[in-house]
Amino acid sequence: MRTELLDFLACPNCESETPFEVQADASRDDGDIISGTLTCRSCQSVYQIRQGIPRFVTLDQDYCANFGFQWQQWRTLQIDRISGHTLSTDRFFADSGWPPNSLQGKVILDAGCGAGRFADVAAANGATVIAVDLSDAIDACKETTSVHSGRVHCLQASLFNLPLRPSALDAIYCMGVIQHTPDPIAVIRCLTIYLKAGGRLAYNFYEEGFWRYLQIIKYTLRLITPHLSVSKNLALSQFLVDLFFPLTRRLAKIPKVRILNHFIPIASVHNSQLSTEDQRSWTLLDTLDWYGARYEKRQHHEDVAAQLRKVGMTAVRSRPGLAWATKPKN
Ligand SMILES: C[S@@+](CC[C@H](N)C(=O)[O-])C[C@H]1O[C@@H](n2cnc3c(N)ncnc32)[C@H](O)[C@@H]1O
Ligand SMILES: [Zn+2]
Repeated sequence: MRTELLDFLACPNCESETPFEVQADASRDDGDIISGTLTCRSCQSVYQIRQGIPRFVTLDQDYCANFGFQWQQWRTLQIDRISGHTLSTDRFFADSGWPPNSLQGKVILDAGCGAGRFADVAAANGATVIAVDLSDAIDACKETTSVHSGRVHCLQASLFNLPLRPSALDAIYCMGVIQHTPDPIAVIRCLTIYLKAGGRLAYNFYEEGFWRYLQIIKYTLRLITPHLSVSKNLALSQFLVDLFFPLTRRLAKIPKVRILNHFIPIASVHNSQLSTEDQRSWTLLDTLDWYGARYEKRQHHEDVAAQLRKVGMTAVRSRPGLAWATKPKN
C-alpha cells in the first residue's frame, strides 16, 4: 500500500475522513507498505495491511471464494499486456465509451476488479486506478498491476461498504460485477456517491431477457452449483468443457448455425486472437464463473438507467448489458 492512497480513504466503520494512523511493519524500497495496520483516529477500528494490500473485509463477508480461486488460477490469461491479445483493451473502451486519451491523470475506481484486466488497461492509458475486490482476486490484481509505478492501488473491500471518501473520484467502471452481488440495485445506487461533480460512471452487467431461456441446462445446474465447493464446480466445469468445447468450436465457425452454442452449457469463447488452447482456457474460466458464482441476478438495462436517474445522475444512457451516467455539476 502506498501512502498516496490515504488521501482517498475513509473509515468504513464510522465514515471519518481523518487520515488513518499508519503503522508499517515491513516496506519495500519504493515505499510500498507490505504489512502493518491502518487505525481510524475517530473510532479506533484497526484494518490490516497484508501482502501490500489494506484489508477491509473479514473472511465471513466474502461470498466470492470462487472468484478468488479463478482469478488466481488464471491470473494473466485476460491481461492483454502479458497474453498478447487486445481483448480486454477492446472491451474496456467499447463498454466504457471513454476515449483512451481521456484517462490521463484521472483517478478511477475499478469496482470488482477481479484479476485486474481493466485496471491494467486504464493504468496503461495514464489513469491512477483504485482497484477494489471483495475476494482474494485482489492479490492477483496487485501482482499483475505492480508494473504501473504505483498507479494501481489495490484494496480488499466490499462495494457495499467502501473505505473511500465521497466525491473523490473522476470516474468509476464496474464490469461484470453487479449481477454477482446479493443486491445489484444497492451497488448501482451507492457507487455514485464516490464520484466528483462531472465524474463518469460505466456499468457492464448480465442483461435479463430472452437469452437466459435458451440456457436451460445452465440454469438447471445452477439450482445446485452455487452451493457446491469451488473444487466440485471446477471438476464439473472441466467435465463439461472437455465434453462440449470441440463441438462449440466447430459450430462457432459456421455463421447462422453458431447460435446453437447458446443452448450448450459451457461459456464458450472462440476468438481469432486466441490460440485454440487459450480459447479452451477462457472457456473453462468463464464456465467456472457461470457455475461457481453464489449470485447471478440479471438486470434490465432500463431499470439500471432508472435507478441512476433516481439518485440524480445525468446524461444517463443504457443498452442491453450496459449503462452510463455522469454526476451533475450542481
Ligand atoms: C465476474 S468477476 C469480474 C471481474 C472483473 N471486473 C472483470 O471483468 O474481469 C466479478 C468480481 O466481482 C467481485 N465482487 C463480487 N461482489 C463484490 C462486492 N460486494 N464487493 C467487491 N467485489 C465484489 C468478485 O470477487 C469478482 O472478482
Ligand atoms: Zn472509524
